Parts: sequence; C-alpha cells; structure tokens
Amino acid sequence: MKGLILSGGKGTRLRPLTYTNAKQLIPVANKPVLVRVIEAIRDAGVNEIGIVIGETGPQIKEVIGDGSKWGVRIAYIPQESPDGLAHAVKISRDFLGDERFVMFLGDNVIEGGIGQLISDFAHNDWNSQIVLKEVENPSSYGVAKLRADGSIEQLIEKPKNPPSNLALVGIYMFDHHIWEAVNSISPSWRGEYEITDAIQWLINAGHRVYPHVHKGWWVDTGKATDMLEANSLVLEELTPSIAPNAVIENSQIDRRVTVEAGARIINSTVRGPTIIGENTVIENSYVGPFTSIYYNVTVQNCEIERSIVLEHSSLSDLGARLQDSLIGRHATVHRSEGKPMALKINIGDHSSLWVV
Ligand code: G1P
Repeated sequence: MKGLILSGGKGTRLRPLTYTNAKQLIPVANKPVLVRVIEAIRDAGVNEIGIVIGETGPQIKEVIGDGSKWGVRIAYIPQESPDGLAHAVKISRDFLGDERFVMFLGDNVIEGGIGQLISDFAHNDWNSQIVLKEVENPSSYGVAKLRADGSIEQLIEKPKNPPSNLALVGIYMFDHHIWEAVNSISPSWRGEYEITDAIQWLINAGHRVYPHVHKGWWVDTGKATDMLEANSLVLEELTPSIAPNAVIENSQIDRRVTVEAGARIINSTVRGPTIIGENTVIENSYVGPFTSIYYNVTVQNCEIERSIVLEHSSLSDLGARLQDSLIGRHATVHRSEGKPMALKINIGDHSSLWVV
C-alpha cells in the first residue's frame, strides 16, 4: 500500500498567513498539519508517500525533504494547475502504479489516526473505502446519501440542498479501478475534476465502495477558526512534557502544559492544555488554555488564551487579553506608551483585527 497526500491548494481563506507559506505548514499544537498527516500514514504502516504539490511546492519540499526525518520515503508530484482532487490522482499514476493506496488531504486533521481504516481496507475485498462524518454544514463538503442497509446511494459535491448531514472526510482508499474512474469523468460546475464524481463512477460501475462513518472529531483546516478548533482538539490529546533544559522561574504551570527545549517561563501563569515552543520566552504573563506558542516567540506583560502564535513573533504590554487569535510569523503586537494614545496599525493584506 502507498500513500498520497494532496498539498497543492493555495489556502486563500487563510490569508495573510498563506501569502508567505503553504497552509499545510501552519502548525497545530506546534506541529505542521502536513507533518501530522505524514505521521498518521506512517503510523498505519505505510512508508512510501507521494505528495502532490502546487505553487507552494518549494516551501513544502524545504520542510519535509525526503521524509527520512519521519521514517518515510517521500516523492513529489507537481500539479501544474489546481484542476481538482481527481486530477491530482490522475497525475500520480506513475508513482502509484496498480497498488492500493490511501489518499489523505494535507489540511485534514482527524482524531485517532487511520490505522484501523487501513487494516479494514487491507482485509476486505472493497475497491474503495471512504470516510464520512456527521456535520452541521454539509453544503460545504462532498455529501453522501446512504440507503437503509448502509450502502452508498449517491455522492454529491457541495450540494445546495444536502440529502444528509454526512460529509466526505478528506481520507480515501482506492484500488486500481480508480484509474478508469478518473479518466471517465468530466469537470464539475466549478471546473474541477472531483474525486466525489470519480467515486460515484465506481459505484455506478458496480464496484464496492465501503462508507466508514467516523465517530471521533475531524477538522478540515480551511479557515482561521478551523485552525483554532483543531489546535484545541489536538492540545487536549497531547501528553504533556517539560524539556529538561526549559527554565521555569517563579511561575505556576499546571500539569497539562508542554514546554519545549530552551523555553523560559518567568513570573507567569500557564494553564493547559497549552504548548510553549522551543526558545520561546514568556515573562510576567498569563497564558491560558488551548494556546500554542511556536518557537522563538517573546510574550511579555500579556494575557493570551485559545490562540496560536507562530515563530519569531513578539507580543508585549497588551492592555486587553488576546483571545481566539492567530498571529503570523515575525509579527509584533505591542502597546505604545507615547502620546497620542492612538491605535497604530501596520497590517498585511487580508488581515483581520477586532478592536475593543
Ligand atoms: C474536498 C472534497 C470534499 C470533501 C473535502 C474534505 O473539498 O472535494 O468532497 O468533503 O475536501 O476536506 P475542497 O477542500 O476541495 O473544497
């Protein structure tokens, strides 16, 4: 079995962070979402993985390299234009050959890994397995309509009037029959070759597609609010640890806090689940639950809760508590003491700022 990760998307809904980096490289609990996907595939026993890349390919290659850091072999498959998930499968034919494979969208985060799913697929004669999850907004996803016996009647991509609340999670398993399917479909109304249509083609042709309904949580990290939600969920699963060389001075840290190497926490209170990254300094501050602060960050005289702060940023002397915030790389947020007491903003394109 091989793995295929789709990591081509531009991440427009995560601007401005995605102007300078691939959305799949944004960290959740201090680990890029794409690395979580690679580890989930590896932990299910699949070591040969192809990553389909688009415009942000160079950044992805720089971080992931040949995969040896995670004990896997990575091949890169460039997608010249974003023509859809089924198109991404089509161009991966040489890499995948006729083997069975698992395809995982590089921005999906799921509870509990995929070991059981892979093993179920390996031990059954299904031609494909899909993963479904009950959601509140099915129109934003591919949606499945099941028959009374649990088999799939129909799959529809982003329906205006969804026939059920079962969304297609971005994890799919296929055998060689998928090749005929992706070569037989036409582009959808949004001009893309939809994997949903290819799976519907398999069903119509009489192939066996098994729908697994996932019971744990699942987040498709398309927007900032999704990143914060995924961050909270993953932080809750994290086994806390404190690096031996971390410095904790005159501070209250509860047992659900992870402190990474070289971090320093001074005169502060940190409540978990929370992670403080490598060489980050927290001073005279309160860091509340569900916060991930990445590496080389400085937080001084601040209160921050349920937020993500990326590397090399600096927060100081904020008058109000920062909450539900996503702060990018090399960003500075601070209070200026001089007069006039005005808001001074130097903010990138597509940024959002809520002022109290
Ligand atoms: C894609 C699929 C959709 C699926 C979703 C899961 O949507 O087309 O069927 O439900 O991923 O993340 P897209 O991210 O292209 O909007």
